[in-house]
Amino acid sequence: MAIVVDPGEHHDLWLALLREQLPDEEFVHPDDDVDPATVQFVISWKHPTERILGYPNLRALLLASAGFDHLDPAVMAAVPVVRLIDPAMADDIALYCLSWVIHFQRDFDRFASDQPTATWSRPAPRFPRDYTVGVLGHGAIGSVVLETCAQHGFRTVGWSRSNHDRSYDEFFEASDVVVNLLPLDESTHHAIAAEELAALGDGVLINVGRGGTVDTGALLAALDGRMRAAVLDVFTTEPLPADDPLWAHPKVTITPHIAGRTDPTTSVPVIVESIVDLRAGRRPAGLVER
Ligand code: GLV
Repeated sequence: MAIVVDPGEHHDLWLALLREQLPDEEFVHPDDDVDPATVQFVISWKHPTERILGYPNLRALLLASAGFDHLDPAVMAAVPVVRLIDPAMADDIALYCLSWVIHFQRDFDRFASDQPTATWSRPAPRFPRDYTVGVLGHGAIGSVVLETCAQHGFRTVGWSRSNHDRSYDEFFEASDVVVNLLPLDESTHHAIAAEELAALGDGVLINVGRGGTVDTGALLAALDGRMRAAVLDVFTTEPLPADDPLWAHPKVTITPHIAGRTDPTTSVPVIVESIVDLRAGRRPAGLVER
């Protein structure tokens, strides 16, 4: 019985770590000559749909990513999917967010734009206790982002559909910075649009969730107005096309989907635990509800 390993990058490291941690399992490369009927698990980010559907005895797809919106619905319907919930990745994303929160709270963007004109301007300080970080999406990663900002003294407010103490508009009104971690599905498509950005006012949006949750036209319009800045790590189309107006907007910072990188050293033990759980008939922590 085989486990196909197709993580997209660092393939040899993944294989070495998996073989070391589960020496009794047979891990194979997707291009190895393997009988599809023997494949029980696939570890992958983007293993081709037709291959997944061609393994008649597949028990689960173990993702090397937290998100699963890229999967073909036919895959979701055919096989249990386990998303990657790696605490080290959540910490990494939290530090990315915290560094940008501090960037704006300390006015580093304003000093950078003052420097070319040799302008010595000292705005009134905003201390962390006066600066509100709104975290949208309160799952395994969102809660770590919120806690990390709170530990550094920031005022925090979380919002998720099932857990909120104010309306959606009030959440945006209360936030100086909104960190978006929403996953993409039908209910979150363009969840941040003109109305929400109007409520955010002169605030900042940091998007580390999924590009499709933000209405880009509305974002550009808000940035042409009062909105202070947007830091975007995720996009509807990735890589972001060279002619996309987001690249050239002076209030936009673009990073190439690097807020949370999958690190095999920390991810493999999480995936190993899922395999052990599945073999023992237990429900793995990252099992996606269908
Ligand atoms: C990255 O965006 C992931 O889903 O892990």
